[in-house]
Amino acid sequence: MTADIESTGTDLMAVLTELSSQEGRADPYPLYRRLRALGPAVLDPTGTLLVSDYRLAAALIRDHRFLKRPEIALAAAGFEHWQERPALRLMFNSMLLRNPPVHTRLRRSAAGTFTARRVTALRPAVERIVDELIAELRAAGSADFIEAFAFPLPVTVIGELLGIPEPDRAQFQLLVRHWTGVLDWLTPEIVDRADPAAVEIDAYFRDLLARRRNEPADDLMSALAQVDGLADDEIITTAALLLAAGFETTTGLLANGLVALLAHPGEAAALRARPELAAAATEELLRYDSPVQLLSSRTAPEELEVAGRVLPAGQRVVTLIGAANRDPAVFPDPDVLRLDRDGEAPLSFGGGLHYCLGAPLARLEAQIAFPALLRAFPELAVTGPAVHREGLALHGLIELPVTTGSVRTRAGGAAARFPDVIR
Ligand code: HEM
Repeated sequence: MTADIESTGTDLMAVLTELSSQEGRADPYPLYRRLRALGPAVLDPTGTLLVSDYRLAAALIRDHRFLKRPEIALAAAGFEHWQERPALRLMFNSMLLRNPPVHTRLRRSAAGTFTARRVTALRPAVERIVDELIAELRAAGSADFIEAFAFPLPVTVIGELLGIPEPDRAQFQLLVRHWTGVLDWLTPEIVDRADPAAVEIDAYFRDLLARRRNEPADDLMSALAQVDGLADDEIITTAALLLAAGFETTTGLLANGLVALLAHPGEAAALRARPELAAAATEELLRYDSPVQLLSSRTAPEELEVAGRVLPAGQRVVTLIGAANRDPAVFPDPDVLRLDRDGEAPLSFGGGLHYCLGAPLARLEAQIAFPALLRAFPELAVTGPAVHREGLALHGLIELPVTTGSVRTRAGGAAARFPDVIR
C-alpha cells in the first residue's frame, strides 16, 4: 500500500468529526477539499478506505470484482443480528446491497420499466404533473418548495408506476426519510427510528401485493407479482427500494438544484432563455450538489489491483462521490456552477453493476422541471433558511421556503387562499 492511503492523522479525525456535524453535512465541500489534500484515498480509523479522487472512485465503483458486503460494516457497528431488525432487513436484502446472481435476478425483475424508451414515453405525463404543480405554486405565491414541488413530482411519478393509490403516497415522505437513514454511518438511534418506518412500509407493500394478486392492474406491483421465482420478501424489498430511491433522491436533486440555480442568477437566466440546455444543466446540477454523497459496502473479496493501487483482501471502500464530483483534476474550477460544462460525467448515479436503475427517469423529471420553474417564475426566490436532511449519504433538503415573487399573500389562511396578485 502506498503512504497516501495510510494517513490517519489528526487532520483526518478533524475532517471526519466536522463531516458528521450539521454544518459539515449541509456544506461538505470545504471538508472534501481538506480530505483530498491528505491524498486521493485515506484509511479511516476503522480501516475503511475513503476515496475522494474522481478517477480512483470511478474505477472502484465500476469494478465488478468488488462485492457488496454490508454485513461487515453492520457487524462493526454492533448489528451482527441485522436480519432481526426490520429496517436493516428491508434495505440490506434489496438489490442495492446484493451481489450476482441474486442481484441480477432482482434487478431484471424491475429493469424493463425504466429503459430509456419506456421513460421517454412518460414525458407527457411528467410535463402535465409539472404544469399542475406550477399552477398550484402560482396560486399559493409562497410555499415550502419541498412540500409543493420537490416531493410531489417524483412521488407522483413513481407512485403511478408502482400502482400506489394517490391518497396513500404522502405518508411515505417521513417513513422513507426515516428508513433510508440506515444508508448512513449507523448509530442505534438511526436504526431505532428506521425500524417502525420499515415495518409500516413492509406491511403496506405486503397488503398491496395481496390486492394486486387478486386483481392485477397495469402497474409494476402487478408485474412483480407475476415474475417467476421471486419470493414475496423479494417483491416487497424491491418495491420498497424503488419507491424510496424513486423519490427521496430526486427530491434532493430538485431542491439542491433549485438552490444552486437561484444562487447563480446568470446560469438560471441562461437556462430560462435556452431550455435546450436542460440536459447539460441537469448533469451539472447533479455534479455540483449530488443528492447521493457517498457509496458504502463495497469490499475487495481478495487482493485486488485497481488504478495502480493494491488493495488487500477484505478492504472496505467508501466512495465519496460528492467529493469526486469536485475533483479539480477532472472538473476545472470545480466549485463553480457552469451549466454548459462538458467532459467527464459526474458519479452521482454510481456506476457498474449497481448503476442507478432510475437514472433516465430522474433526468427526465429534472430536465422538465428546472426550465419550467424558471420560465414560470422569473422572480422565484428563497425566503428563509433551508432545513437539511440528517446524514451525509443522502444529501437533500426537507424544507425550503420560497416565493414565486409575483404574488404577495397577507398573513392568515383566508388571505392565503385568495391571494392579492401584484404584477
Ligand atoms: C437524482 C436522482 C437519483 C440519484 C442521484 C440516484 C443515485 C443512485 C446511485 C448513486 C445508485 C448506486 C448505488 C450503489 O452503487 O451503491 C443508485 C442505485 C439505484 N437507484 Fe437511483 N438515484 C436517483 C433516482 C432514482 C430513481 C428515480 C429510481 C427509481 C425509479 C432509482 C432507483 C435505483 C435503484 C433500484 C438502484 C439500485 C440498482 C442496483 O443495485 O442495481 N434511483 N441510485
